[in-house]
Amino acid sequence: MKQNTLFLIKPDATGRNEIGQILSKVEENGFEIEKLKMFKMDEELANKFYAEHVGKPFFASLSEFMRSGKIVGAMLSREDAVLKLRELVGNTDSTKANLGSIRAVHGTSKGENSVHASDSIESAKREIGLIFPE
Ligand code: RTP
Ligand code: MG
Repeated sequence: MKQNTLFLIKPDATGRNEIGQILSKVEENGFEIEKLKMFKMDEELANKFYAEHVGKPFFASLSEFMRSGKIVGAMLSREDAVLKLRELVGNTDSTKANLGSIRAVHGTSKGENSVHASDSIESAKREIGLIFPE
């Protein structure tokens, strides 16, 4: 079934000028870019976007990192988009991500892992609403 999912290019990757390479990889893997924007995350959006992690030991560094630079947000569509994008993105810890995944190529650690992908259809709907409220 064709689905939408939410994809982010995080500040480590935008700061290294890797936006084009990463979007190319996404398109080469059958995803269509339906919506695209460049923005910065503020504290309020970080709290909402990562609500499931507020209060965890790593949340402060996660929030600081996500607010540290430019983010590219994209709504992507494809057959089975949520699962397929998680596969393409790879393990949360970039050092453990499958060869060829975006995090294996671009990410450098568990924190600076270059990209985000929604983890379920429900998360995708919630996150698309947060990043593209129009
Ligand atoms: P994301 O939401 O960013 O796409 O990453 P994910 O689903 O693969 O991982 P998630 O569990 O949702 O965690 C969100 C972000 O928090 C950082 N994290 N650090 N130190 C830790 O144990 C830890 N756990 C998670 C990661 O940067 C992860 O991307
Ligand atoms: Mg997540």
